[in-house]
Amino acid sequence: MSVGRQKLNRREFFGWLSIGWITFSATCAGFASLVFRYLYPNVVFEPPMDFIAGFPSEYEEGVDERWKNGFGVWIYKNEGTLVAMSNICTHLGCVPNWLPAERKFKCPCHGSGYYPNGINFEGPAPRPLERYKVSLSADGKIIVDKSKVYRYEKGEWGNPGSFINV
Ligand code: FES
Repeated sequence: MSVGRQKLNRREFFGWLSIGWITFSATCAGFASLVFRYLYPNVVFEPPMDFIAGFPSEYEEGVDERWKNGFGVWIYKNEGTLVAMSNICTHLGCVPNWLPAERKFKCPCHGSGYYPNGINFEGPAPRPLERYKVSLSADGKIIVDKSKVYRYEKGEWGNPGSFINV
């Protein structure tokens, strides 16, 4: 009787030992992850500020949306010039939609409207869409550099770098 009771106690002992060990290990792992999270810097990974947008000949006249989702840029080609426009509404930062049938950008948040060249004409947007620096690489491809911004209201849309001749 006492032998059976002793076996039962040993099982219980190892059972509790296992539970204790698992709890201890989980606590240590949680603590280690907290220490690692504390020591690891808060880094925000953002897409690159510049990218190659292909050859000018690959674009039709008008608004092109191929870089809108990946880089937040519309390419607008019009009568011999090509520009790269920001897709951020100048009101409160929503992303407007390009409506080809109406030939305008329309912001879904508060209704601002922009012409294809980025000039605002309706709604609360206080100024046109911003443009990014564009240039041609040695092999003739378009380079869009989002670190350099050109603003209409500052008279910068005529500056070198705010457009390329195509
Ligand atoms: S954020 Fe575009 S109209 Fe308000």
